[in-house]
Amino acid sequence: MSTGPALVDIHNHLIPGVDDGARSMDEAMAALAAMHEQGVRRLAATPHLDAELTHRPQALHERLARIDAAWESFRAAAVERFPDVEIARGNEIMLDVPRVVLTDARVRLGGGTAVLVEFPRLFVPAGSTDALYRIQLEGYRAVVAHPERYVNVGSSDLSLVDQWCRTGAVMAVNAGSLMGGFGPAAQSTAREMLRRGWAHVIGSDYHARAGRRPLLLRAAYDDLVRVGGEEQARLLLSVNPGRLMDGEAPIAVPPLPVGVWSRLRAIFKR
Ligand SMILES: [Fe+2]
Repeated sequence: MSTGPALVDIHNHLIPGVDDGARSMDEAMAALAAMHEQGVRRLAATPHLDAELTHRPQALHERLARIDAAWESFRAAAVERFPDVEIARGNEIMLDVPRVVLTDARVRLGGGTAVLVEFPRLFVPAGSTDALYRIQLEGYRAVVAHPERYVNVGSSDLSLVDQWCRTGAVMAVNAGSLMGGFGPAAQSTAREMLRRGWAHVIGSDYHARAGRRPLLLRAAYDDLVRVGGEEQARLLLSVNPGRLMDGEAPIAVPPLPVGVWSRLRAIFKR
């Protein structure tokens, strides 16, 4: 592990048996060990949740009760093995309907004001900006998961991301996107967002399964430092995710200077 600040992750699927993340406690603990090895000392676990469920109290209750049970055993095992890691919970809420009910604190990051959201099928539907704006109006802070991955968001047209940022929503890029793990389009969009200073957080979106996408938080941190983006790395992977868990606004991330991109290209190609 390289030196640097303790990392904080607000997007992962570590809670066992509740979504397409960890299937067992063994997988969850192996994932947590990997996070620990990479320097993560604080995280919010974010299993998938459909916004539509938040309109049906009984269905929401059943879903959250299932997560509660898995969460309790996960947390007990985690505290035992990794007492120096602070673990909170939240959800990654899919905005499959334009409005989401956020009154149950369990669906929010660390029970605070921030909520991690995504859009269905990696395609941004009409009305996305209104949906995010409504979340802010209700007093919460929308954190958009992997904005760079949507097929109708591209490095040559970031107008949707621009609109989202103007609502006060926070952009949480995946570490894997920056490292090329989601293909060249997502990678160039992620880079362009960093170049403009439009990424506020980098999350792992780690699915805790051997053979699936690797955990790249520390690699993303180290590569940003290597190209002169130490301040950005610290804000994106440590300070800002921590602030969101504390219910605070992220600090503006300075745009990465254009000059670093040839070096980044060489590094991220490997
Ligand atoms: Fe996710």
